[in-house]
Amino acid sequence: MIVLGIETSCDETGVAVYHSQHGLLADCLYSQISLHQDYGGVVPELASRDHIRKLVPLIEECLAKANVTSEDINGIAYTAGPGLAGALLVGACVARSLAWAWQASALAVHHMEGHLLAPMLEENRPDFPFVALLVSGGHSLMVKVVELGNYEVLGESLDDAVGEAFDKTAKMLGLGYPGGPALEKLAKKGNPGCYAFPRPMTDRRGLDFSFSGLKTFAMNTWSQTAKTPQDKADIALAFQDAIVDTLAIKCRRALRETGLETLVVAGGVSANKSIRDELKRMTAEENGEVYFPRLAFCTDNGAMIAYAGCLRLSAGQEDSLPITALPRWPLDSLKPISVHPIFPIDSTG
Ligand code: KG4
Ligand code: ZN
Repeated sequence: MIVLGIETSCDETGVAVYHSQHGLLADCLYSQISLHQDYGGVVPELASRDHIRKLVPLIEECLAKANVTSEDINGIAYTAGPGLAGALLVGACVARSLAWAWQASALAVHHMEGHLLAPMLEENRPDFPFVALLVSGGHSLMVKVVELGNYEVLGESLDDAVGEAFDKTAKMLGLGYPGGPALEKLAKKGNPGCYAFPRPMTDRRGLDFSFSGLKTFAMNTWSQTAKTPQDKADIALAFQDAIVDTLAIKCRRALRETGLETLVVAGGVSANKSIRDELKRMTAEENGEVYFPRLAFCTDNGAMIAYAGCLRLSAGQEDSLPITALPRWPLDSLKPISVHPIFPIDSTG
């Protein structure tokens, strides 16, 4: 089975072609970062319009790169949510229309399931069951992944998502958009131990998160300094350290409470090296293992949608004609995937 994957939930237009026997054939991405940079964040209407401009040419480019034609495509998987309503609708309308024209099956994919399964595109993949920490710009979720499609949400952010806290703190420090990578870069110049930031919600039971207080703490700390470049770097590091510690404490707790030994970390924030290093150290200490997607598949991409779609389509699932876009869509409401096809590893390396 050959599946075209389409991702348009936020500010990246992602397209990929996944072959159930040969793995990932092609993956193309168009990032809207420069479009939104002037505004300091994603402008939903501009995002939708840009997906309209870029999606069809990107699909043509991706099919050519994969060396397939529309006639080879058996299924089209598209992100149907969660995400920005207008942006999702662009992907959903194009996907459904192409599926109709090409007589292919269409399948609505949950964006966070895409992130969750992204490590499966690597050669070294986790076995089920495992605990997944999903950290993106819109979500922070701790999930018990019983098996494919069977997700139990153990905890989530009660306010800002981790990526959102990175972005808002970076904006406050004048680092521009997207803030996560910029803040990580600046934190490298920071001196450790200059400020004592809190580790939110680690002193009480449970696996929920809260990150909006950290952003305010950073803001208050910054306002009380002389605002030198070194102060800024020290605050960036103290903020990042607080996030790293908090995530590590919660992941350790999730592993212990579930009795599982495998941790999967995915979503845009999982590209952060300090987070990756600390979670590797923590899982080793717990005699467990941690799996991440490659850096390019931490942030939004079409490959994870093509892969998740291929799994569900191969298991006989497909969606009926009405176009579905679900800006809010709970991960634990997904249908289980009864058949467990074993797919090959990514062939693009
Ligand atoms: O998964 P993603 O591409 O989009 C959403 O589904 O939201 O995640 C984007 C988020 C942004 O908030 C971005 O600042 C953050 O991931 N991010 C990072 C890093 N790279 C991306 N945060 C911290 N460190 C990074 N290296
Ligand atoms: Zn995402």
